[in-house]
Amino acid sequence: MSYKLAFIGFGVVGQGFAQLLEEKKNLLRTGFGLEYTVTAISDPAKGSIYQEEGLDLTQILSLTEKDGNVKGYDRGVKGWDSLRTINEADADVIVEVSPTNIENGEPGISHIRAALGKKKHVITTNKGPIALFYRELAELARRNGVALKFEGTVLSGTPAINLSLDTLAGAVVREIKGIMNGTTNYMLTKMADGQSYETVLKEAQRLGYAETKPDADVKGWDAQAKIVILANVVMGGHLKPKDVPTQGITEITQDDIEKARTDGKRFKLIGHAWKEGSEVKAKVSPVLVGADDFLYHVNGVTNALTFVTDALNKVTIVGPGAGRLETGFSLLVDFLGLHRAFSKR
Ligand code: HSE
Repeated sequence: MSYKLAFIGFGVVGQGFAQLLEEKKNLLRTGFGLEYTVTAISDPAKGSIYQEEGLDLTQILSLTEKDGNVKGYDRGVKGWDSLRTINEADADVIVEVSPTNIENGEPGISHIRAALGKKKHVITTNKGPIALFYRELAELARRNGVALKFEGTVLSGTPAINLSLDTLAGAVVREIKGIMNGTTNYMLTKMADGQSYETVLKEAQRLGYAETKPDADVKGWDAQAKIVILANVVMGGHLKPKDVPTQGITEITQDDIEKARTDGKRFKLIGHAWKEGSEVKAKVSPVLVGADDFLYHVNGVTNALTFVTDALNKVTIVGPGAGRLETGFSLLVDFLGLHRAFSKR
């Protein structure tokens, strides 16, 4: 089975996925019978190219590394914007990795609606559209007979969404709780080692953990979007981000962290969703935990989620919460997932 992919956005995550596609090309073919070409990339900053016969991804990646954009690529048609690429490029899978916007979901929501409406599969790591419009988009995908997959919206490539929907299917999830933002957990860990807020935030940006606008991380909005996604997708909730009381880490001072350390405690930014009768509720806030709480031992960019279920009681996953290849991997998993589902038909 051979697929044509179009990338809408080509930042850290898009590049990470492109790198994995190249590195795992043989494995995809021999292990899964999956072949691909990337026919288009459209990114307002990095440049846009459409090449019907398939782009040279190795060259694209080396241009991105060398020049910070793909404008030096010497073949194909240049300059198509995102919607033109979605509507006109020869592609059956749209890789939607434009920057997350948790206020109105744009431009990702318009991209995903257009792609599904054109009967193109969508794999995305974009939290805004899923946190705000999950039910509408899932229904649109179903009506058009295509996949909408979004593993990387929560805990990067660490299985959280597919785990709940596939492997835990049939279990009722009553509660989900844990650390779901890599940037802030990394920052809190480094600050407990004595480094300043500004230094560690810059480092989180340099390492590709932080959102395009890192306010989303430190003010808790990123964790808020993730707990909304989990509450709605996994627990059947009907939450909007504004329904979730949210506090980030901006008010935690170096002194607070030092005092916690001498008391044998650590700050963790915790997202929590639970059922109250038939309603699902959620909140995000910093919590002080002691060494008897396993979250105390989850440090750096590592995240952890506990699902409280009827069948198994607690199931906990621990793994990377952010990063170029880690988030790129979620797209690879989703690509394989849609291949498995649709190649059987
Ligand atoms: N900025 C996010 C984080 C990226 O730090 O967790 C992954 O969603």
